[in-house]
Amino acid sequence: MKRLWIEEVLQYKGKEAHVLGWVANRRDHGKIIFVDLRDKTGVVQLVFTPNHKEVYAQAEKLRSEWVIGVTGIVNSRPEAMINPKISTGELEIEVTDLEIISPAKIIPFEIETEGREISEELRLKYRYLDLRRSRMQQNLINRFKTTSFIRNYLASYGFIEVETPYLTKSTPEGARDFVVPSRLDPGRFYALPQSPQQYKQLLMVGGIERYFQVVRCFRDEDSRGDRQPEFTQLDIEMDFIEEEDILGLIEKMLKELIEKFFPNKKITQYPFIRLNYNEAISQYCSDRPDLRQNKNDSDELAFAFVVNFPLFEWKEGEKRWDAVHHPFTRPQFLPQETLPELITRIKQAPHTIMAHQYDVVLNGYEIGGGSLRISEPELLEAVFELLGHSPETINQQFGHLLEAFDFGVPPHGGIALGLDRVLMILLNEPSIREVIAFPKTGDGRDLMIKAPAEIDEKQLRELRLKIIKDN
Ligand code: AMO
Repeated sequence: MKRLWIEEVLQYKGKEAHVLGWVANRRDHGKIIFVDLRDKTGVVQLVFTPNHKEVYAQAEKLRSEWVIGVTGIVNSRPEAMINPKISTGELEIEVTDLEIISPAKIIPFEIETEGREISEELRLKYRYLDLRRSRMQQNLINRFKTTSFIRNYLASYGFIEVETPYLTKSTPEGARDFVVPSRLDPGRFYALPQSPQQYKQLLMVGGIERYFQVVRCFRDEDSRGDRQPEFTQLDIEMDFIEEEDILGLIEKMLKELIEKFFPNKKITQYPFIRLNYNEAISQYCSDRPDLRQNKNDSDELAFAFVVNFPLFEWKEGEKRWDAVHHPFTRPQFLPQETLPELITRIKQAPHTIMAHQYDVVLNGYEIGGGSLRISEPELLEAVFELLGHSPETINQQFGHLLEAFDFGVPPHGGIALGLDRVLMILLNEPSIREVIAFPKTGDGRDLMIKAPAEIDEKQLRELRLKIIKDN
């Protein structure tokens, strides 16, 4: 018989139905055994009576989380037994046939709860069980709906999704790189991308014009609630644009997304507030202020764009200038200022230079950031020089970009949203780990699959690597 999803059982009143799934619980009421059966679409009550003797005897064995298949008649429940909390609450299936497909050991924690009372370590060790809980399933479903919506939305504006390499070279985003040793070129390493920043700019040189990618980024930095060593960006780049074009695109996309899939949420102000970086710091002592009118209201969404950042910041500890965003960010020209004049100002008064940079802030979190880019090779060189790179390292590390810009480059800019953070806030979760199927712990471990792990001698030898053991 054809499998029905549990939500479809509603249309089979009085008819025979065949459903498959997990035993959520079993209750014995005198002669009758009740079982709640769960699949990804919901829960339905199964009823076993001594009328079907063999099946009834089998049902006595059932325990939580066993995988079973049943066939039976879909009946209305007596009025007093209707459960308004579940969508199939007015029905039950009187089972005539039961197949035990896979028994389960006693599971280490409750699945019927939201799971917030369980230690996270245990949840992550048995993540495949944790994912069975309704809250986690809903989070993953909403994540999928969000990325699907975004893909369609951007496609309707002429963007195409292009995949960029994961085995690549370091690109400066301010964190440490994860590196991958090369077997074919011993002693050389790939770096996993902290973001596709350089590739997306090279795609603009490549004439793609409107690029996006839902892409994994890798940063070796300490984790916390809103940070993971690997996380997902919605990465965007486009040519012939002004700052406002990008901000307008993003705010409209977020508004439509929220109206469609998160209708309980109220956006505090639309169009989103534009806040100068200096104002943010002087008024809120933060470049990602929480602008909610009522901070207890979990359904309020206070978006803001923080704009007009300085281009450089002085690192007192290291006694050097650093880029506030990244070195590819476009400086703001003063009125009438020429390119040579701006380059002189970078050398002589870097603190006076403002950037075409913007952050997206939501309820006190930085959920995105981007900028217009430098596309003049001599300007980019001047920035790298100020940041302390010698002509040799500039050529070695960024020669490909400088060379590309010599072959006809359209002015361009872009943005990246931290998708995990956006979802965390929209789903009222306290951490991005709750919206990622297989997240890592604070110290960067996957407790389920046990990574990172040692590799064997043969692999090390092949890669010409030696482990230096700390004493
Ligand atoms: P940026 O470094 O600001 O910009 O990153 C963009 C957004 O990504 C999110 N984010 C993170 N989320 C989870 N865990 C992390 N470790 C983590 N690090 C960053 C944040 C952040 O706002 N290439 C540029 C974008 C551009 O210029 O177009 C970039 O990566 O929400």
